[in-house]
Amino acid sequence: MIRLEAVGLHYVQGASSGHEVLRDLTMVVPEGGFRWLLGPSGAGKSSLLRLLHIAVLPTSGRLSLLEVDVGGASRHNLALLRRRIGMVFQDFRLLPHLTAFDNVALPLRLAGQPEAQVRAHVTEMLHWVQLGRKLDARPAQLSGGEQQRVAVARAVVGRPHILLADEPTGNLDEIQAERLIQLFKEMNRLGTTVIVATHNDALVARHPGPALRLDQGRLVDHG
Ligand SMILES: Nc1ncnc2c1ncn2[C@@H]1O[C@H](COP(=O)(O)OP(=O)(O)O)[C@@H](O)[C@H]1O
Ligand SMILES: [Mg+2]
Repeated sequence: MIRLEAVGLHYVQGASSGHEVLRDLTMVVPEGGFRWLLGPSGAGKSSLLRLLHIAVLPTSGRLSLLEVDVGGASRHNLALLRRRIGMVFQDFRLLPHLTAFDNVALPLRLAGQPEAQVRAHVTEMLHWVQLGRKLDARPAQLSGGEQQRVAVARAVVGRPHILLADEPTGNLDEIQAERLIQLFKEMNRLGTTVIVATHNDALVARHPGPALRLDQGRLVDHG
């Protein structure tokens, strides 16, 4: 369960606090829910995903994720909580010195999975995103679309409780985008709560579902 009560976010810039990029957000996404996250560029979609990934903390209001009150939790508990949340970053954030295989393996190794299991899961996941022949490639040797699919594989390989994706189809053609949404829907069917920020109207039209809609930092539709 994701619960926001009157959540606001300021980015602090230098000595002054910047303008409020998210204002008075109140919403609930139930366990196992699927939500599109829509709104014009600059509306605050990436900022909301950053909050839900606990990369930033709310500057006002209350946020609770998977029954943990984020404002009251210790750093250690926040780190444990973050491991249960998968994130596909808009700019991928792959580690440049690691191969595709090792990038995807990272969350499983951090979680202490036995290496044989890591190998099986990572190989399966990279085949699923049609990168079975690129296991040993480093990010610089991959196209934008291929890097995006490695980032998706890394986000989902640990079967997170919550999956957040920031414009995950931005570098993919329609066939690959469709395949990706099938993967997210399958994870959702198996119980993962999924939130996908997108500008791909055709994709949303093909997969109608409840949407969170932001406009100038305010929630104008909450599904
Ligand atoms: N790190 C940051 N510091 C200051 N302002 C930021 C930062 N990141 C985003 N912003 C501002 O917050 C607003 C929302 O941005 P963002 O969340 O990226 O929107 P979206 O993803 O919907 O395009 C924009 O006005 C943007 O300039
Ligand atoms: Mg964005």
